[in-house]
Amino acid sequence: MSNQVRYSATAAAAQLQAGHFDHVRENVLAARDEVIADVALANSGEPIPKEKQPLDAGFIELPQDLLADLDAQGGDSLLGRIQTAANAFAAQVDRMLVLGIGGSYMGARALFEALCHPYHNELPRAQRNGVPRLSFEGNNVDSDAVSGLLDLITTGKNSAEISDRWGIVVISKSGGTLETAVAFRLFREALENFYGNNAAEATQLVIPVTGETGKLRDFSKQRGYPVTFPIPDGVGGRFSVFTAVGLLPAAVLGIDIRQLLQGAADATESFRTADYDDNPALQYTAVSHHLEVEHGLNIRVLSTWGKRLEAIGLWYDQLLAESLGKDNRGATPLTGVNTRDLHSRGQQHQEGTLDKLITNLYVARDDSGAVRVPSAGDDWNQDDLNKYAGKPLPEVLEAALQGTNQAYADVNRPTTDLVLPKLDAYHIGALLQILMLATVTEGRLLKINPYGQPGVEDYKRNMNAILSGD
Ligand code: PA5
Repeated sequence: MSNQVRYSATAAAAQLQAGHFDHVRENVLAARDEVIADVALANSGEPIPKEKQPLDAGFIELPQDLLADLDAQGGDSLLGRIQTAANAFAAQVDRMLVLGIGGSYMGARALFEALCHPYHNELPRAQRNGVPRLSFEGNNVDSDAVSGLLDLITTGKNSAEISDRWGIVVISKSGGTLETAVAFRLFREALENFYGNNAAEATQLVIPVTGETGKLRDFSKQRGYPVTFPIPDGVGGRFSVFTAVGLLPAAVLGIDIRQLLQGAADATESFRTADYDDNPALQYTAVSHHLEVEHGLNIRVLSTWGKRLEAIGLWYDQLLAESLGKDNRGATPLTGVNTRDLHSRGQQHQEGTLDKLITNLYVARDDSGAVRVPSAGDDWNQDDLNKYAGKPLPEVLEAALQGTNQAYADVNRPTTDLVLPKLDAYHIGALLQILMLATVTEGRLLKINPYGQPGVEDYKRNMNAILSGD
């Protein structure tokens, strides 16, 4: 089995009629050329033509650039500084609050859920190897959730005890997003009260991640936070997981950020250079697009298998929806988690409106260390499970996947597969980059600018106007 993330559309072969599909493949290759040319345009320093604005192609070369910077400058590089700040932060607190919304939150959540222990927050510090717990806020305006978290981190807690100590990573590219700004004000005040007798301590336990200009940048300078990490101008929010937006929380969590970036850098290289048949980003784009325009499958279900990939699906929901949901077009993303959703959405996917493309996202089966179905004495076999005794749960999950694919194939519903050889930082880095590259390629194919999110900006403006009584 290849060591790379793999895409397969074998189960959709009947729908990929040669004539039309060949044409789509050619168009997708041309769209790739445009995406690559966009990088050169963005780097050229030349004015960006109006029809290309905004052009946030900076995410494409970023992983390779960060790794090269690390090789050249070591600890002084951006990655070196992120790792140093993360280590210092992790040594001083037992809970990290990540305040952010949308692209300033979904990536860190995806990395956390995919790569950390499934019950990370419930484990004692020693079992977490000294890695802090993680809580997210600033991704809503929910009084109950905020007061619940404030209660959890302050009531009866002692700032001298490592197990009670907490700090804030506040993330906003624009620096002006209301949800995050309100949460930051609330939790900053709580933090300053918590470390009341030591104002300097509270100051160094806040790490802002923000754009080069904006309200959060201004505030951070004024407040004198010792470290503030940048979000580069040419990288859009939902494409920013490989900036400090995702990398700083990941490094605090002990995730190997170098491997994450290596996976992403290799994915970019393969996107640029590999033929269609070895290029998962192009294959995914071509097949999904073809099935949408030729077969009306305009709902893209990312059907994740196992619990740890769900947040990657939610991250992808945002990526696809905000990038291509424009000009009254764009497929609708939907994340499923199986086998859970086979007992809820599965019925509709099997027999409901024929408008869904199911892409299975799963990790290649690995039975090492897996839990197995226990055997029971004959007196206790009322559940009739002894016939499966000894089978590893990955085999049971695989049987469910194959059985579901077969059921869909039997009623002529296409499925495709995105397969991770392993669940580790390298392959998650590759997967996220592949999905970002596929999204911008599809944008160029559809003649929709995948960058920018004018609709989101409208709601932000309206909400602020309503609150100000304007
Ligand atoms: O993709 C995007 O740019 C948006 O979804 C943003 O990530 C989101 O609106 C949060 O914006 P900010 O980071 O400026 O607070």
